[in-house]
Amino acid sequence: MQVLKTKIDTRSEEFIRNKNAYLDLMVTYRQSLSESTKGGSKRAIQLHKERNKLLARERIDMLIDRNTPFLELSPMAAYNLYDNQFPSAGIVTGIGIVQGCETVIIANDATVKGGTYMQYTIKKHLRAQEIAMENNLPCVYMVDSGGAYLPEQDTVFPDRDNFGRFFYNQAQMSAIGIPQIAIVMGMCTAGGAYVPAMSDETIIVRNQGTIYLAGPPLVKAATGEIVTAEELGGADVHTSISGVADHLAENDLHALQICRNIFKTLKIKKRQKLDILPIEEPLYNPEELYGIAPIDLRKLVDPREIIMRMVDGSRFQEFKARYAPSVVTGFAHIMGFPVGIIANFGVLFSESALKATHFIELCCSRNIPLVFLQNITGFMVGKTFERGGIAKDGAKMVHAVSNANVPKFTVIFGGSFGAGNYGMAGRAYSPRLLFMWPNAKISVMGGEQAASVLTTVKNEQYLNKGIEPPAEEIEKIRQEILKKYDREGAALYSTARLWDDGIIDPVDTRKIIALGIASSLNKPFPAQRFGVFRM
Ligand code: COA
Repeated sequence: MQVLKTKIDTRSEEFIRNKNAYLDLMVTYRQSLSESTKGGSKRAIQLHKERNKLLARERIDMLIDRNTPFLELSPMAAYNLYDNQFPSAGIVTGIGIVQGCETVIIANDATVKGGTYMQYTIKKHLRAQEIAMENNLPCVYMVDSGGAYLPEQDTVFPDRDNFGRFFYNQAQMSAIGIPQIAIVMGMCTAGGAYVPAMSDETIIVRNQGTIYLAGPPLVKAATGEIVTAEELGGADVHTSISGVADHLAENDLHALQICRNIFKTLKIKKRQKLDILPIEEPLYNPEELYGIAPIDLRKLVDPREIIMRMVDGSRFQEFKARYAPSVVTGFAHIMGFPVGIIANFGVLFSESALKATHFIELCCSRNIPLVFLQNITGFMVGKTFERGGIAKDGAKMVHAVSNANVPKFTVIFGGSFGAGNYGMAGRAYSPRLLFMWPNAKISVMGGEQAASVLTTVKNEQYLNKGIEPPAEEIEKIRQEILKKYDREGAALYSTARLWDDGIIDPVDTRKIIALGIASSLNKPFPAQRFGVFRM
């Protein structure tokens, strides 16, 4: 495989300017991340500790194998929403390794509004379950939650992808042999009681965990019965009388050890085989990505400069290097795993879509996972291109991306606009994981384009009525749209709403993709089947 050679001078003024601006961006990103992962208020954290409970992230640390990473997903969920009252949306989710097995862990953060579920808590819980289902990963639920966030019942209860879907997913996963294990480490009330009740195996902590459909106040109101929480649904009751839980733990640490013991009894899974090579670092320092990643999206970045700082030995076997240069395709290894990379280098033309489609077919027929590096303004527009059938060629790419049998991973390293987002495995195309870099932007089109469309429409409305368009009003519309797109297109805005699985440090990209690929091997890739490609 050819070793890529950089054309960038890391001492140039342009590189240094970009790098300095990127490091400023990293400061904002790290501050937001640290605010989001600190949990609830100081008082709530203190109370939690006084109850001899470990914090959600401490629990996860103690569950996973020593010296193994935990890939936390969407840590900045709900950022700048709900007056920041729900750091990380009150739940910690991610992929960790337990007894050598990649596992989805879902842990309530009881220091955030009693671990209750508002709409983004639910979205995050469901996304984690989806990752478990797609990759065949066991689920561990660390339950410590007051259930639904009652003031917002209309966004948490009635719809399909609301609270009830947790239990449907548990039943579906259990039926196909994906282990479901609950550790009740705090309150687990009303609907929440179904998390342990629907699990294959459940652990509960003495004098700490409770499970009941209605708590003591509600029982009193409904039937007049006066009962304590422990009598109603404590660990003793559930492990010796009701059988709702299977194992009694003395404290958090003991519960986590029992969970690790359960993992030793799980069925050995058939894994997808890949030709894995020894890991090699890239020849070029990944930290140079700070000087290259586009802060100004008008700057065109050669994606090979990104690829060579991400792949093993900076080796890249390019496919169709001389054809359709606005999309770069080729084979490489990331932390030893073979990957097929598709990266943007400008707008997509018909031939770029055909080249990408051909390359996706190659990866599917060779069982090579796909990595999409997005920096895309969209497909080319105009009479020549429409007549050349760009819509049907773009559709071929979208067909191939949608039905590819191999796992896909998407990293947005620049812009993600328009139908380019679709062809390049945007969120709607179910990449196994999708991450943004701090500089990335996502919206239906760029702000300038949206402002231009809307002002043109307005101008024409006036002209049709025979009135000269008022320049001031048109300019006001333009400025408002620019401002709105700038705000809503930001990575922080996206990640708060779970349009991605998190914002990541560019330097960590290769490790994160590798963890994703390792996880995906828990489910053998299915046979390839494409639909009808319009010719
Ligand atoms: N909906 C909305 N907010 C809730 C809530 C719920 N179901 N349960 C708790 N909260 C909020 C509290 O108002 C409080 O908010 P604040 O920090 O702004 O004051 C915060 O969560 C912590 O509650 P608090 O009772 O002070 O903490 P705790 O650790 O002692 O107890 C619970 C936490 C969850 C055990 C307890 O609040 C409780 O029993 N809640 C009711 C649970 C319930 O019946 N849920 C039904 C769901 S269908």
